[in-house]
Amino acid sequence: MKKFLVIFITLLITFSISAYAVSAPTLPEPVQKVYSPDGRIALLPQSRAEEYIAAGWFDAPVVTIYKPNGETSLVFLSDAHVHLANGWYMSPDDFPKKTKAVALTYDDGPSKYTNQVLDCLERYGAKATFFVVGTNVNRNPEILKRAHSLGMEIGNHTANHQRLTNLSASGIASEINSNATYIENATGIRPTFTRPPYGSYTSATLSAAKQPFILWSIDTLDWKTRNADSTVSEVLSKAKDGDIILMHDLYSATVAATERIVPALIDMGFDLVTVSELAQRKGVTMGIAGYRSFK
Ligand code: NI
Repeated sequence: MKKFLVIFITLLITFSISAYAVSAPTLPEPVQKVYSPDGRIALLPQSRAEEYIAAGWFDAPVVTIYKPNGETSLVFLSDAHVHLANGWYMSPDDFPKKTKAVALTYDDGPSKYTNQVLDCLERYGAKATFFVVGTNVNRNPEILKRAHSLGMEIGNHTANHQRLTNLSASGIASEINSNATYIENATGIRPTFTRPPYGSYTSATLSAAKQPFILWSIDTLDWKTRNADSTVSEVLSKAKDGDIILMHDLYSATVAATERIVPALIDMGFDLVTVSELAQRKGVTMGIAGYRSFK
């Protein structure tokens, strides 16, 4: 037994030395840095680096640049300054501020359509406010988290979408506070204002809610028509500085309308901002009251 072990170890050593002898004279391949379109960097042997470049990576840092009309372009970082002098921006947040603004608002989600609305808003560097319902928050917390991370504002639209005027003061408080907790669990932020379901409230409702109510000045009736043309024309024919526009991120027609409304409003000279930013731009500090617009 011992003899076998000695033979085995001897063989092992012999093979290891010969393996080393074969690999040792090979010179290491030169390494190269490669850059992904989304900002990752890898240091690789040259042959691997070439494979990465063939698959869409670059041999120098690249950056995405943006135009207010929604165009994006991937350019070498070293060339970016040339484009920035020609109407391109490093981030949609850098677009120059306009004098007119409206707040797009989406109620009753988040739903399976919300991500498409978010994609469109993100593409144009536009912001909107989502008045979410507790049951849907708990179904789609990741979508809400994405909305928040894109700089969208989240408003409270109650836990169960009941008509608040039918509830007791404690029922109202519970509908608002429990949904605020769901939203906080998903996003880390507790909303500071509510949109009462059906826009239905009285002064007693407001006192029980103890926070501002955000209504609207343009009702697209998108939930009723389910027709993109109708929603688009409602918004584009009526939008004025300070308006709050009501839509619902529950319908494919509303997604299609959004994809036309966002670039059109931008072309008309509007900034698309959150409810809070609209109030702030108009110098309004919200109290316990109902707000239909900020003019
Ligand atoms: Ni609603």
